[in-house]
Amino acid sequence: MTPTTPAPALEARNLRHTFGQTTVLHGVSLTVQPGEVVAVTGPSGSGKSTLLHLLGGLDVPQQGEVWWAGQRVDTLDTQSRATRRAGRLGLVFQHHYLLEDLTILQNVQVPLMLGGAGDLIYARHLLTRVGLGERGSEMPSILSGGERQRVAIARALAGQPAVILADEPTGSLDRANAQRVAQLLIDLAREQQAGVLLVTHDEALAASADRTLHLLDGSIVEDVPAPAAG
Ligand SMILES: Nc1ncnc2c1ncn2[C@@H]1O[C@H](COP(=O)(O)OP(=O)(O)O)[C@@H](O)[C@H]1O
Ligand SMILES: [Mg+2]
Repeated sequence: MTPTTPAPALEARNLRHTFGQTTVLHGVSLTVQPGEVVAVTGPSGSGKSTLLHLLGGLDVPQQGEVWWAGQRVDTLDTQSRATRRAGRLGLVFQHHYLLEDLTILQNVQVPLMLGGAGDLIYARHLLTRVGLGERGSEMPSILSGGERQRVAIARALAGQPAVILADEPTGSLDRANAQRVAQLLIDLAREQQAGVLLVTHDEALAASADRTLHLLDGSIVEDVPAPAAG
């Protein structure tokens, strides 16, 4: 690697992970470049969520390495990983874990309090972009599922992370809403030049990614670039 080559936003090297007797990931390697949108597809049980947990530093692999923006993180202790995650990674999971005691805008600002980049003006801007600009002072409990997911997306972006990890972020929404919300996530991430790794069942959505990885029984069996645009 020459000194001018930027580090990948996210890199996994030969991840192996086992629950009890069952090996769930058999040596998974992948990279996500800054600004690149990568979809992950695969049947239920193929290891997608386990992979995202390891990549997000919520769990550590039994073997292999996880790197965020050129820095190895699987060897750090839990607290150091959490601190680093706050500024570098945005997470959107199937269940949008909003903090119910904070207002909608305060939820979006959480990454800023944890040391992420961005400021209050940017948090407000994101809330407007996800269509909830007028509702920042309300509490999350009054929101619909789709609205909660849009707040979770604004929050994931608010710290201007290098990478967004999204695990079936729209799994609980109807198809039309799911596509709109996920496309919004992709558009906003591209504007920020954030890399995205997005687990999805939706073929149409995978088609708007730059690349699709197919996971089967804990191995990446296909790595398919999107057809050239035009
Ligand atoms: N905490 C856990 N303890 C034991 N087995 C688990 C745990 N989490 C996931 N698994 C198992 O690992 C496999 C992969 O699960 P998961 O990563 O959730 O797949 P996917 O997200 O592709 O549906 C499944 O067989 C699942 O039962
Ligand atoms: Mg899953």
